[in-house]
Amino acid sequence: MQRREKIRELLKTGDIGREVEVKGWVRTKRGNNKIAFIAMNDGSVIHNIQVVADIANFDAEVIKSISTGACLRVTGVLAESMGKGQSVEIQAKEIEVYGLADSSTYPLQKKGHSLEFLRSIAHLRPRTNTFGAVFRIRHALAFAIHNYFNEMGFYYLHTPIITGSDAEGAGEMFRVSILDPKNPPLKKNGEVDFSEDFFGRETNLTVSGQLEGELGALALSQIYTFGPTFRAENSNTPRHLAEFWMIEPEMAFYDITDNMDLAEDFLKYLVKYILENNMDDLEFLNKMYDNELIERLKSIVSDEFVRIGYTEAIEILEKSGKNFEFPVKWGVDLQSEHERYLVEQHFNKPVILTDYPSEIKAFYMKQNEDRKTVRAMDVLFPRIGEIIGGSQREENYEKLEGRIKELGIPMKDLWWYLETRKFGSAPHSGFGLGFERMVLFVTGMSNIRDVIPFPRTPKNADF
Ligand code: 4AD
Ligand code: MG
Repeated sequence: MQRREKIRELLKTGDIGREVEVKGWVRTKRGNNKIAFIAMNDGSVIHNIQVVADIANFDAEVIKSISTGACLRVTGVLAESMGKGQSVEIQAKEIEVYGLADSSTYPLQKKGHSLEFLRSIAHLRPRTNTFGAVFRIRHALAFAIHNYFNEMGFYYLHTPIITGSDAEGAGEMFRVSILDPKNPPLKKNGEVDFSEDFFGRETNLTVSGQLEGELGALALSQIYTFGPTFRAENSNTPRHLAEFWMIEPEMAFYDITDNMDLAEDFLKYLVKYILENNMDDLEFLNKMYDNELIERLKSIVSDEFVRIGYTEAIEILEKSGKNFEFPVKWGVDLQSEHERYLVEQHFNKPVILTDYPSEIKAFYMKQNEDRKTVRAMDVLFPRIGEIIGGSQREENYEKLEGRIKELGIPMKDLWWYLETRKFGSAPHSGFGLGFERMVLFVTGMSNIRDVIPFPRTPKNADF
């Protein structure tokens, strides 16, 4: 075992007089030619530990060379701290410099850089308090997601990242190919001949694991996926990424109401988990970015989500007297401004909207009796808008095939999906939670680029 201890644990102990070893990065150094106070952080917790070095005991040149950003190993004795806001500090005995950080060029020399600037140094931004807090919460959410489904008896199913089908039928996919773009093999009619490509066919990065997830649910009853998904849509908004992570539970024998119950319970569990386990980081984010964050998170856990149909939502929006950028009428897809009006102004609670017009939803959703709407459900959150999209699935072979033909989706790509409706079909439902939208909501950050370590957005994949 390593002798090194995490700052998170040390700050909790009251073991005054014990000899300890810490390793981490310098956040600040101050003092004079007799004594140096070095605040160190190792990423285990938002707080730093203070190292006090009596310069007489060290090589003064070495102490002088240490500046913000340097990485150190320190051994010393835990002592009660006189400084405010910290319980213990380390009276240094040994300081080893692992790596210096030239103060004239280290970009994180000062505090208070803009989030935009920090995006341009994505390789170093994890060393800031903000990104430390965000990435710790991101981790805790991922952990809580697996915990939740494991406790609920769901199986984690790994669906492919390279696929031959378009799960959402929106055609916004990234091609996967090893053909030479300058000189691809051509068919007689001049089109690219993908039969010569790596997989002997056209392939893309997946937009969703749902279709394969359904195959798992129709055997294991309840599964979930949690993996990266890719969308080549040119949406330059604070809520869209070209590469994002999605959690997609899929349940045999669940109808739309069971589906909504699960989504609500799941979201509440996640928020509660973070309130119980990440309060230090939440308090920091609440103070620095969003004074209502903790209150908002608590209200998610306590408030019952509102459940209404799309048609009723349109009536509310029409009667609102609001001048929306995108005008509303029955049949339009809801924009974030509409979703947020419903959640933030009209109901002041999360809203689950159901029964959307079939025209604006994917082919696999269960058709309602009215033949105009489908059994879709979107969960809308304050500050975010849509955080979950899901539905009951069409389990009837003829109806599903009819819809696929109507939309002109190539049947050769989906024969295997249709077969599940031929052999032992069952009512089933599922949904997809956008992981980064959840992290965005829980951290109170305002741009999705700031809740994923390396954001991919149009014209940006630098790191
Ligand atoms: O509503 P979507 O497109 O639904 C599906 O993909 C279904 N196959 C899910 C299912 O039923 N299993 O996407 C689901 C969620 C959205 O509600 C949103 O939170 C997130 O994924 N999402 C995005 N997040 C970040 N960037 C994007 N470009 C996103 N597109 C969707
Ligand atoms: Mg959606």
